[in-house]
Amino acid sequence: MIGFVGGTGPEGRGLALRFALAGETVMIGSRDLGRAEEAVNSVSESAPPGSIRGGLNDQIAANSDIVFVAVPFAGHQPTLEGLRDQLDGKIVVDVVAPLTFSRGQVSAIVVDEGSAAQQAQAILPNSRVVAAFQNISAEDLLIPDRAIDSDVIVCSNDSEAKAQIIALANIINGARGVDGGKLENARYVENFTALLLNINRIYKAHSTIKIVGI
Ligand SMILES: NC(=O)c1ccc[n+]([C@@H]2O[C@H](COP(=O)([O-])OP(=O)(O)OC[C@H]3O[C@@H](n4cnc5c(N)ncnc54)[C@H](OP(=O)(O)O)[C@@H]3O)[C@@H](O)[C@H]2O)c1
Repeated sequence: MIGFVGGTGPEGRGLALRFALAGETVMIGSRDLGRAEEAVNSVSESAPPGSIRGGLNDQIAANSDIVFVAVPFAGHQPTLEGLRDQLDGKIVVDVVAPLTFSRGQVSAIVVDEGSAAQQAQAILPNSRVVAAFQNISAEDLLIPDRAIDSDVIVCSNDSEAKAQIIALANIINGARGVDGGKLENARYVENFTALLLNINRIYKAHSTIKIVGI
């Protein structure tokens, strides 16, 4: 079971939809049961029956084997602190890119720990934190038949967890999981999202990332 904390936003719903389309059972989490149900309804029509369910964040964190964290950076630390027990021993996939938006410019927020993912590992020392999917556009994920022509760079200090998430990235139509090394490298992937969003504004496009030469 794959769960999404903060799954009601476009990124959580988009990834949940793609994994459901690939045959996984997913749970969309929220701080509010009504919002979770609304989010499930918004994507279920495109997915196999029964493959997407909803619930409260803490229930989903407790009941999932792999837990995605898809909240805005402002809610990242308090959300994870509140779920420490439920996330003990679990694979926690952090998709958060800490960004600020001001006067047409997107900028990366400097995180004391180095990156959102490293902050997650500091808050959750007993969880297997993996950083991934920060560069994948939610808008594209939410169009079920659109191929995601992109690499997904996956960083973690836990090799086995990292391999599982690379395999998960590979089941999304068009996407390719790439081993991005240690969790320390997550900062480069998170920060690169700011550049991609600024490029998107210039070209009025959905840019993404592909690694060549490997
Ligand atoms: N959007 C993209 O294209 C994209 C692409 C790559 C990565 N990301 C990353 O993915 C994450 C989610 O993006 P998004 O656009 O889906 O975000 P979002 O819509 O702003 O937020 C996702 C969900 O998080 C919950 N939430 C909001 N504020 C919160 C808080 N202070 N504390 C706890 N929960 C809170 C809300 O769910 P409830 O109210 O239902 O609890 C909300 O629906 C972000 O960190 C972003 O950097 C986004």
